[in-house]
Amino acid sequence: MAGRKGGSPRVLVVGSSNVDIVVPVRNLPAPGETVLGGERKEFWGGKGANQAVAAKKAGAEVRFVSALGSDGYGLAYRKYLADTGIERRGLIRVPGPTGVALIVVDGMGSNQIAVSPGANSSLTPSLVGKKRGVMEYGEVVLAQLEVPRAMVAAAFRSARRRGAVTVLNPAPASGELRARMLSLVDVLVPNEVEAAALCGTRGRVRTMAGWVRLCKKLREKGAKAVVLTAGKTGALFFTGAASGWVKPPAGIRPVDTTGAGDTFCGALAARLAQKAPLTDAVRFAVAAASLSVQKRGAQTGIPGKRAIWKAMRGVQLVREFGC
Ligand code: RIB
Repeated sequence: MAGRKGGSPRVLVVGSSNVDIVVPVRNLPAPGETVLGGERKEFWGGKGANQAVAAKKAGAEVRFVSALGSDGYGLAYRKYLADTGIERRGLIRVPGPTGVALIVVDGMGSNQIAVSPGANSSLTPSLVGKKRGVMEYGEVVLAQLEVPRAMVAAAFRSARRRGAVTVLNPAPASGELRARMLSLVDVLVPNEVEAAALCGTRGRVRTMAGWVRLCKKLREKGAKAVVLTAGKTGALFFTGAASGWVKPPAGIRPVDTTGAGDTFCGALAARLAQKAPLTDAVRFAVAAASLSVQKRGAQTGIPGKRAIWKAMRGVQLVREFGC
């Protein structure tokens, strides 16, 4: 199904671009601990860029609104994104360094990440406003929280004015979201940690019953639809009309889970832009995210749409929860 007459579905992604500096370790360091790791590698990353690349590879046309620094990383990142087929118009060069993420990945593919935002902090409504009409794009607008919240709110307000669907990945998690922001979101896509933070719940929630409670609470707070990503367990979704648990294909061996949530969001947005029902979009996104963890680097393992459709055969809707 085409997203709009005479063309591919289009997604506007508003968010961060980082260079990921990654060190593999046997075990993640505890606070105050130093661990020795393997060879350091650099990858393209940043939640916004990862999601933009994932949406593109999943079959959408993508405009990416992001700030890149005036350093060598910024220039190289711009070229790479254009080579990937992402529209250049939203990429804005600002003085200073490009964002950088320091990442350690353990033998199970789990990670710890610290981000120095650099240019991402400059992505404000006034900066983007200089590029007239740049936000007028796409059937779906997708954002995260690695750029100023005022920027995300402005992007969603603009989406609302022209009837586009808004998708927020509230990452990184930092406390509760204002009701005004939540009222601008059609689909909220937290992981377990972010969902707990948004609900003010302390400690990690690890059970299906606990995740269901978090989803219901987020809906009570004003989110129209909630899609909770739960790592190797898959994803749960709740709307006013439907709910369920989507289980990933069997036999996936994670090498690096960095960016799996981003692949999920990009693929979800691409399918929603094709006007797919949310249940179908979640199944597609679960397949994409499962495939993405099999290579090192946030973007290296992002699959193309043919591979995603193939992996969909192993994805199951295993349970409904009542709404
Ligand atoms: O979600 C993974 C991403 O988080 C990494 O690519 C890193 O840059 C941070 O933004």
